[in-house]
Amino acid sequence: MDIHLDIICLGWTERCKSILPPENGAPPLQPSQRLPGPNEPCWCQSGRKYKHCHRPIDNAPVERKYAEAQRVYATNWRVTAELQHGRGDYRWMARQLGSHGIRRVLDVGFGSGHGILSMLEELGPGLRIVGIDENPDCLTTAQNTLQTAGVDCPSPMRRVTTLPYADGFRSAAVPIEGALPEPVALLQADVCSDLYLEKALRADGPFDAVTVWLTGVHMYRQYNVVVTSAGIKTDGSHRLFVQNAVYELADKVLRPGGVLQVVDRGEAPATETMKQDIIRAHREQAEPTTLDFRAIEYTPWTPTETRRVPMGLTLGTSGMAPTQDMAIVSIISVKT
Ligand SMILES: C[S@@+](CC[C@H](N)C(=O)[O-])C[C@H]1O[C@@H](n2cnc3c(N)ncnc32)[C@H](O)[C@@H]1O
Repeated sequence: MDIHLDIICLGWTERCKSILPPENGAPPLQPSQRLPGPNEPCWCQSGRKYKHCHRPIDNAPVERKYAEAQRVYATNWRVTAELQHGRGDYRWMARQLGSHGIRRVLDVGFGSGHGILSMLEELGPGLRIVGIDENPDCLTTAQNTLQTAGVDCPSPMRRVTTLPYADGFRSAAVPIEGALPEPVALLQADVCSDLYLEKALRADGPFDAVTVWLTGVHMYRQYNVVVTSAGIKTDGSHRLFVQNAVYELADKVLRPGGVLQVVDRGEAPATETMKQDIIRAHREQAEPTTLDFRAIEYTPWTPTETRRVPMGLTLGTSGMAPTQDMAIVSIISVKT
């Protein structure tokens, strides 16, 4: 049976055609295209089966599409994150923070919580972590990850409602009341637009570290007015948009001497020229702040066949996505 996008979008066809393409730069589905079967590759060219990708979103009424995209993303990311956790990728990332006397961490975009778990494993049980993520399903998943591992993790704070309007989806957050839970506070917040976040974090006291690991986001983020009104057109520019917001937030909430750690995936910076290229880019990102580049480290990274979330790559000096020698790259800056 042919189901067309103009039916699925319930009057959204014009908007779907005019705004950015889905993840990986794939062209949007055209009204004349047949939808794939559940086990066929998704039309967005993500490489996932349709049933694990856009099918639940395509089948949802318009007011549910954003939430469905968040749910699908959280489910898929957990699979990827479990693999990365199993092979020690997150512990490597946490170890890069080890020599900086870290007791309080703000983790931006915690996903399935495996990064938080590895920070607790590597940096010690006395660690206090505030995690933020814009995806409500990541809050549930991360609490589950942490509690299953025996970590005391109070109920996450859900504060954001996202609804469809004529110009796209708009998110609104409620203020953050009272002290943040300890030892792990999971907070729903969009680092690019939350009006109440900075004040609540500052009231909670200065942080020793801010982390933003493997930035990525669900398939309907591109229809959020925060993203469209910023002129974001690609996954790469969205990554920079989020990281720039984190640089500015880190500048406000870190103690002097505190560190910001950005972790990206991309071409292994095997030569001095490639390292300098990344350092230059991060110095530019840090320009509006008092943060100063301190260290770059990398470790080889291999995608696995079963990964559910395609890897967003930071382009290297060649300007091309790497085909081999991929790495996880940690960039540390210090608040002066
Ligand atoms: C690729 S996952 C990485 C999760 C985790 N840091 C890790 O390394 O496993 C990126 C996460 O960042 C979150 N995220 C993306 N944009 C965000 C924003 N503007 N504010 C808060 N969280 C965001 C997504 O919801 C997602 O959970």
